[in-house]
Amino acid sequence: MRRHMIALILAATSLPALAQGVPAGSGVEPSTVANTQTRPIAFATRAADDGILVFLMRDTALPTGVLDSAAETVVKAAIANAKFEGKDGSELTLRGIGRHARIDLVGIGSGSDAADRLRRAGGRVAQQLRNEPHPVSIVGAASDEAATIALGYSLGQYRFDRYKTVGKSAPSVQPATIVVGDVRSAEAEWKSRGAALAEGVTLTRDLSTEPANVIYPESFVARVREAFAGVPGVKIEVLDEAAMRRLNMGTLVGVGQGSRRPSRLMLVQYSGGSGAPVALVGKGITFDSGGISIKPNSGMWEMKSDMAGAASTVGAVLSLAKSRAPVNVMAVAALAENMPGGNAQRPGDVVRTYSGKTIEVMNTDAEGRLVLADANEYVIANYRPAALVNIATLTGAVGNALGSDYAGLFARDEAVAAQMTAAGKAVGEEVWQLPLHPNHDKTMKSDIADIKNSAEGGKPGASLGAAFIGYFVDPATPWAHLDIAGVNWADSSDDVTPKGASGWGVRILDEFVRNWKR
Ligand code: BES
Ligand code: MN
Ligand code: ZN
Repeated sequence: MRRHMIALILAATSLPALAQGVPAGSGVEPSTVANTQTRPIAFATRAADDGILVFLMRDTALPTGVLDSAAETVVKAAIANAKFEGKDGSELTLRGIGRHARIDLVGIGSGSDAADRLRRAGGRVAQQLRNEPHPVSIVGAASDEAATIALGYSLGQYRFDRYKTVGKSAPSVQPATIVVGDVRSAEAEWKSRGAALAEGVTLTRDLSTEPANVIYPESFVARVREAFAGVPGVKIEVLDEAAMRRLNMGTLVGVGQGSRRPSRLMLVQYSGGSGAPVALVGKGITFDSGGISIKPNSGMWEMKSDMAGAASTVGAVLSLAKSRAPVNVMAVAALAENMPGGNAQRPGDVVRTYSGKTIEVMNTDAEGRLVLADANEYVIANYRPAALVNIATLTGAVGNALGSDYAGLFARDEAVAAQMTAAGKAVGEEVWQLPLHPNHDKTMKSDIADIKNSAEGGKPGASLGAAFIGYFVDPATPWAHLDIAGVNWADSSDDVTPKGASGWGVRILDEFVRNWKR
């Protein structure tokens, strides 16, 4: 009886119950299983006699010495009858020939841009054969082309299926073998670089696809720590909310204050070279509801991937570190969840940044630029980076201007812009430069603070966002900003990007950092 009373009193007076060890805001997580395995990539000098055979075709000429003469005659007849010419993007699927379950002719054409054509062909093959149980042999690549095919294949076979529990089929883990003359050199090229790049893209896509009840600032940090465990040359620093309050990081704390999930600033440093690091500073809003300036409900779920910029910085650094690139680089993830709530910041609030600058928060939905303000200032003051690149799903406006073909590039310095543009072209993640104009800075002036985060009806939206971020980068630091709101989510599949989180940014940042020159 007494025991009951005590329990009742406790129940009535204690705070809402949270099981011990469960972080604030946590429900029941949907899964503890991993995504299913994909096909391992292998290299060999001979194609298998059975399974699936893929011929990469530049024209009508069939690679010789692979099929027996009877099969070869049949395939040649099919090529002629189908008027197959090996044009880039064309394909012909044949079944029931010899011991092969399937023979695919995949056109890669000829001419310039070979890397792009090879990468896309690899991705196309991976997606076509996604549900095939058999091992795959790919014939027709030169030894120095094989790693590019392998990269495309790896990017194209990405899948996120860890939450499927009903009717889940076990996809094939039979290898995709690329047939080449020089196995040693092809394998070395793949292992020293491409494989790490694919791992980086996979990490970024996973983080961006995960729902916001699974990935929030603290769990983002935990996942990234896991991904970097044991990788040499890497140092990780994390500021929690108490530390950020002490440092007066009013924008990172402010954006997160409506959420039960506390904000974090995560810095992943990789030292493989000499000199000041290149800093990649990403927007890491693990969910963007808009806050008190709440978003309309249609499509709001996509805001689970509003941390794609931060995810691409850690993906790029994972690639650089795992491939032991001779560079110094750091990924900086500005992590917060933007939620409405009794303690959320309000439109009209004035917040201060790390350096003491003041911001009038006109619209709580312009939160990405807010968290980047503190992150940029902290990184510049404490690391004096050789260059700073922001990457963020910052504005809907950039998608209106550029669609999903280009990310928006902003830069003060033409040398930085040229290097970023070249990097994008080389890897197949393209950027288009948009203007920074002194009038944009004027538009963002606040009546009562140093700057405001949004101008009512302000245009051009993507440039105004860039101008705001640039206000928190000292003019002596070479700076670029990539607005990826139009490219981070693929509504339909392309050759190397299955529908969903694209992982956009890992490849261009990896390439930019490797080649960066002041
Ligand atoms: N995360 C959004 C931008 C976004 C929109 C990303 C669509 C991906 C798809 C960002 O925080 C935002 O809400 N931007 C506002 C800015 C405005 C309030 C100044 C926008 O673009 O409308
Ligand atoms: Mn927003
Ligand atoms: Zn946002």
